[in-house]
Amino acid sequence: MTRSHLCLLCLLLFLLNFAASQDEATIMQSLKSNLNLVPTGVNWSSPDHCKWDNVQCDASNRVTRIQLNEKGIQGTLSPFLGKLSELVILEFFSNKLSGKIPNLSGLKHLQILNLHDNLFVSSVSLNLFSGMNSLQEVYLDNNPLAFWEIPETVKEATSLKILSLVNCSITGSIPDYFSSETLPYLVSLKLSQNYLEGELPESLGRSSLQQLYLDRQQPYLDTSISVLQNMTSLVEIDLQGNAFSGQIPDLSGLQSLRLFNVRENQFTGVVPPSLTGLKSLTVVNLTNNCFQGPLPLFDKSVAVDAITNTNNFCLDTPGAPCDPRVDALISIAESFGYPLKLAKSWRGNDPCNSWLGITCSGSNVTVVNLESQELTGTISPSFAKLTSLETIFLSNNSLTGSIPTELTTLPKLRTLDVSHNNINGDVPKFNESVNVVTAGNANIGKKDRFHRLVELLEKMIKGTLAKKE
Ligand SMILES: *[C@@H]1O[C@H](CO)[C@@H](O)[C@H](O)[C@H]1NC(C)=O
Ligand SMILES: *[C@@H]1O[C@H](CO)[C@@H](O)[C@H](O)[C@H]1NC(C)=O
Ligand SMILES: *[C@@H]1O[C@H](CO)[C@@H](O)[C@H](O)[C@H]1NC(C)=O
Ligand SMILES: *[C@@H]1O[C@H](CO)[C@@H](O)[C@H](O)[C@H]1NC(C)=O
Ligand SMILES: *[C@@H]1O[C@H](CO)[C@@H](O)[C@H](O)[C@H]1NC(C)=O
Ligand SMILES: *[C@@H]1O[C@H](CO)[C@@H](O)[C@H](O)[C@H]1NC(C)=O
Ligand SMILES: *[C@@H]1O[C@H](CO)[C@@H](O)[C@H](O)[C@H]1NC(C)=O
Ligand SMILES: *[C@@H]1O[C@H](CO)[C@@H](O)[C@H](O)[C@H]1NC(C)=O
Repeated sequence: MTRSHLCLLCLLLFLLNFAASQDEATIMQSLKSNLNLVPTGVNWSSPDHCKWDNVQCDASNRVTRIQLNEKGIQGTLSPFLGKLSELVILEFFSNKLSGKIPNLSGLKHLQILNLHDNLFVSSVSLNLFSGMNSLQEVYLDNNPLAFWEIPETVKEATSLKILSLVNCSITGSIPDYFSSETLPYLVSLKLSQNYLEGELPESLGRSSLQQLYLDRQQPYLDTSISVLQNMTSLVEIDLQGNAFSGQIPDLSGLQSLRLFNVRENQFTGVVPPSLTGLKSLTVVNLTNNCFQGPLPLFDKSVAVDAITNTNNFCLDTPGAPCDPRVDALISIAESFGYPLKLAKSWRGNDPCNSWLGITCSGSNVTVVNLESQELTGTISPSFAKLTSLETIFLSNNSLTGSIPTELTTLPKLRTLDVSHNNINGDVPKFNESVNVVTAGNANIGKKDRFHRLVELLEKMIKGTLAKKE
């Protein structure tokens, strides 16, 4: 290439860039003309937009940053903002901007988009984050947007670290792409105060999230939270004000967990030692659930909010053990998956104080009648710990598994009714004075496949030994 060619090329590049920056001047004028800056003291009077307050350009006069925060600015954002192709930071948080959030897709250098606390009403376009693979932080919280769902195109923002969409009219379910295969850098997901429904997707268990905020959804998120067990990077979890149910999973792998807020849900069961034993905890909120068993005892460095009368703990003293009858009944409930109905009724430390299905003679539990209670799960061997039991009614539920042999040791048992369930296996040998009712269990007396296999193996081994002898 000759020297003159080189010069020509330089000139061409210069002209191209000049044209681009002229375009940007037009876009910036359009931005300015839609904003009411006069009362805010922001000085955008220079003919050169790169000299405007809170605007930065690069060496080629291309706009890289617009950061106009907390100024009370009214107006709308120019629909052409998405053409400022060198933009790295776009921030207009805590103003009074209204109208539509402009289409920014294709801004491949944009790293930070912060528009929280404004008055944007129009729904975000569905390709919101498409082609934005430098995007690291997004905040759209507290805008009165029209209802929208988190778009599939979020997946394209593969550099995303922080996604904060609190209180901005999101409906639908939590997408299943927050795993580290799709968004490897995502550490903070805040979706509080929206209209999300349904379950926690299993893919969350493969994320590297440190913050997960899903509190206060209407109507609410309502499944079990067993997936948390696999979210070992978590530092803060806020699930307050939903209808999550079931028991707290084994959290022993969450060694960095500091905040655990599950206030105002429908959790049941015993607060597990895998939570109370976590050394990293600083704040735990358990109020307004149906937790059972002993009031958990946390290290004294942990601020705990677990008001006893809003839960069903047996006693008010942290760590104090429950009455043995209560322990036995909680263990029985555990085998049924801690049903909410039992958790709501089985309060305090005295099962003879009108607990659902429990009849006593003095302080001895004599009858457990849980007929037709929509129970699932299995029959607990812990029935055998209630040695005063005379009658067990469990008919017309959906129980599986077999009748535990331990029940044959109950010295006063007269009736065991497990009819109309899904019980299988051999009925253990009870004293002949016990009336065992098993009608309506198609597989009773039949072994399940596992036991058939074990039996077969036993026969084979015996056969082999016999041959050897
Ligand atoms: C606004 O900025 C321009 C330079 O960009 C300056 O000449 C002018 O004095 C400023 N006006 C006020 C009110 O500060
Ligand atoms: C948004 O902008 C991109 C790039 O300029 C364009 O391809 C896309 O069609 C636009 N989307 C909408 C909904 O206007
Ligand atoms: C939620 O956002 C609306 C604006 O859309 C705002 O008025 C309200 O104060 C926000 N709620 C909270 C709790 O911040
Ligand atoms: C946790 O991860 C393991 C291994 O990937 C998986 O088998 C299991 O189903 C996960 N548990 C939950 C509750 O998601
Ligand atoms: C959680 O519990 C801590 C400690 O009691 C308390 O300071 C905090 O206000 C509670 N948070 C909520 C949201 O209730
Ligand atoms: C309760 O059970 C104990 C031990 O089985 C027995 O000694 C006691 O008389 C029983 N009390 C009543 C009121 O049945
Ligand atoms: C069986 O239980 C269901 C509720 O789970 C109830 O509606 C039904 O009436 C019961 N049937 C009998 C025969 O008790
Ligand atoms: C079986 O029941 C009879 C009559 O109630 C009683 O005499 C006997 O001790 C019981 N046997 C066992 C092993 O519990």
